[in-house]
Amino acid sequence: LTGAITLDPGYKNSGSCKSAITFLDGEEGILRYRGYSIEELAENSNFLEVAYLIIFGELPTQDQIEKFETDIRKHTLVNEEMKNIIDGFPKNAHPMGVLSSLTCALTAFNPGVVNVENDEKMYEAICKTMGKFLVIATWTYRKAKGYPLNYYDNTKPYVDNFLRLMFELPTGPYTINKTVLNAIDKLFILHADHEQNCSTSTVRMVGSSHAGLFASISSGVSALWGPLHGGANQAVLEMLEEIEKDGGDADKYLAKAKDKNDPFRLMGFGHRVYKNFDPRARIIKKAADEVLAELGVNDPILKIAKDLEEKALKDEYFVARNLYPNVDFYSGIIYRALGIPTEMFTVMFAIGRLPGWIAQWKEMRVNKEPIGRPRQVYVGEPLRSFKKMNER
Ligand code: SDX
Repeated sequence: LTGAITLDPGYKNSGSCKSAITFLDGEEGILRYRGYSIEELAENSNFLEVAYLIIFGELPTQDQIEKFETDIRKHTLVNEEMKNIIDGFPKNAHPMGVLSSLTCALTAFNPGVVNVENDEKMYEAICKTMGKFLVIATWTYRKAKGYPLNYYDNTKPYVDNFLRLMFELPTGPYTINKTVLNAIDKLFILHADHEQNCSTSTVRMVGSSHAGLFASISSGVSALWGPLHGGANQAVLEMLEEIEKDGGDADKYLAKAKDKNDPFRLMGFGHRVYKNFDPRARIIKKAADEVLAELGVNDPILKIAKDLEEKALKDEYFVARNLYPNVDFYSGIIYRALGIPTEMFTVMFAIGRLPGWIAQWKEMRVNKEPIGRPRQVYVGEPLRSFKKMNER
């Protein structure tokens, strides 16, 4: 496993950290995993190879990636009793809430994933998480649809399995569409890590108390669920559908987004770090054009999205605040064209982000970082004496 980073003596984890995984330059719109640009990886690599790179620090040789895939396959069976847990949820439960619960529940059936005191235990926990998380993530969709839960097929590649686990029905074999497969693989690569975003910081924080990997990932799923974070890809589609239903008037919604008295925000726009174009949004926008053309999908939502983007990029309010499309603005349009239901969009984000969460958690543990303990600036009352009830 990649060596530890030496921490400054007396380093205390106050929420910020040193990391060797992802480099992000918000001004220049640069994103690199372990030194490789996101553009090159999206063009030339595949999701499992990128997962290996992010987790172990180097692009794998043929033997290394084959061994990684073989070792993941040792853990793709999820304990049958987990089905009793998923059966306890109502069908309309949001998949992210079900996924967070199931992920934490995995600890009950895999107690060894808590103590990763050596490289071997750490590696096993990583392979277990990569194997089982994909399966339970697709179970959230199958449960919502009332379909039987599928099993991972150890004779097929990782992302092929995602499509089969999601869409294969007992009534007949599922045929993989190469355009869909390549688009999903590329989207997972683009979501794989993103430095210390809200959910990744949560995974590191929870893991810093030496809570297990499943429990830490489960907390990351909950943080990602929020509409200001990973939940934005679902919120973007809901926003575009609302605009379409309301006659497709982009100007009206841009005005709402600028109105301080209106809670409406342009979902999929703005970013805490990118004060320029989100490099992922550029790649996803190009992929959206290609995928919809190849699938022959003529989605009016895409036209509304482009109209909204074009107008916002010329609007003083958005320009002055460096508000550009982010990773979530176009991803939902592709997912919709690929037949992924809206409520599963953030689960897609979670599947893509899993290697990043694992890598960041491993880095924090290998570096033996202290428990996270952010400090605060106290702005409350000065010392005062207790008042009896009749004095209040
Ligand atoms: C992700 O951190 C990561 O790396 C996250 C992520 C990842 O890969 O992990 O990249 C994934 O979470 C992407 C972001 C997805 N979220 C959305 O698309 C939701 C919509 N965006 C906003 O909620 C907002 O832009 C945030 C939350 C993304 C960023 O918020 P900031 O940086 O804290 O910006 P801010 O709230 O301080 O806003 C600055 C100004 C404000 O106006 P003023 O008070 O200065 O007049 O910009 C305005 C805001 O009102 N503003 C928006 C806006 N986003 C900010 N106005 C309208 N629409 C928006 N989307």
